Amino acid sequence: MLRSAITGVGAYLPPDIVTNEALSKIVDTSDDWIRERTGIRQRHRAADDQAVSDLAVESAKKALEAAGKTPADIDLIVVATTTGDLTFPATAAIVQRKLGCPVGIAFDVQAVCSGFVYALTVADGFVGRGNAKCALVIGAETMTRLMDWTDRGTCVLFGDGAGAVVLEPVEEQGANTDRGLISWSLRCDGTKQDLLYVDGGPSTTGTVGKLRMAGNQVFKHAVINISESIEAALEKVDLTIADVDWFIPHQANERILHGVAKRLGLDEHKVIQTVGEHANTSAASIPLALSTAIDDGRIKKGDLLLMEAMGGGLTWGACLVRL
Ligand code: UT7
Repeated sequence: MLRSAITGVGAYLPPDIVTNEALSKIVDTSDDWIRERTGIRQRHRAADDQAVSDLAVESAKKALEAAGKTPADIDLIVVATTTGDLTFPATAAIVQRKLGCPVGIAFDVQAVCSGFVYALTVADGFVGRGNAKCALVIGAETMTRLMDWTDRGTCVLFGDGAGAVVLEPVEEQGANTDRGLISWSLRCDGTKQDLLYVDGGPSTTGTVGKLRMAGNQVFKHAVINISESIEAALEKVDLTIADVDWFIPHQANERILHGVAKRLGLDEHKVIQTVGEHANTSAASIPLALSTAIDDGRIKKGDLLLMEAMGGGLTWGACLVRL
């Protein structure tokens, strides 16, 4: 059977770094509070003239290079973003034009912080059925553009960045030892919308809006929901948490990611953590963390990766990928 294999990974962070100290001059907060409650030390912020497609393109170029591919090879682009350049067209279409890819399939996936996990699964629907030969799956966000800079409960938590993977079909056995995306579980509970949302949109206010979050209530759902979807993804393919080589969680809060690891009995050394340096970059956080751990030599070809995320919707989910 065909599997969708990750053959290249790339990431991009805008150069401007905003420290906790700098934020403490804008809102009533402190480096101590932010570190202690979230693990965040800094975040990157896109320049005024950088659109989210620019971040996506930079990460995609690196992923293509790592895969030994060129823009001419790409026939599918899926961008997971909640901060698109424009209401339409899709940021994926803009990325296609900026990269110089040929006419092909390109669209965005909107599942907020769970966007990358959703996008990978959606792209697998094309690549894993032989309907795309070389796909770019990108998580890219300019979350700082959605901040209410008077709300200390949210504005200290988010950052900007992008991460991309190249996905290609590989012939495999249909076993849990296969290379590629081997299992997933996705969830959405729309009744929890009010816990995390943006208070604007084209068909309601006609504005972009600002991010609103009942942080401590989202926190309460996070560990339980994430753990359940991970267990479902493992169970589908007869694997256990002990089989996982690396845990690449969405980077919202270090207390959440360690809470999930503890609940599942996962060795802390297997947790890839970048929330300290990147903060919460929504759909970009998983590919950014993946890229970091490949670049520093921890993650290697053949490793079993467990990715998970939770975000607005509420959406959540998990993916198992053998690199
Ligand atoms: O990526 C999408 C998913 N999002 C998440 O997973 C985020 C989940 N939530 C969280 O990570 C945490 O709930 C937060 C980091 C947002 C907040 O941490 P918390 O421990 O849940 O704090 P809290 O909201 O219960 O607030 C505790 C106190 C409050 O003060 P009082 O009422 O006890 O006097 C807040 O006003 O901390 C105060 N506070 C702050 N203090 C200093 C809230 N934000 C700040 C701040 N600096 N930035």
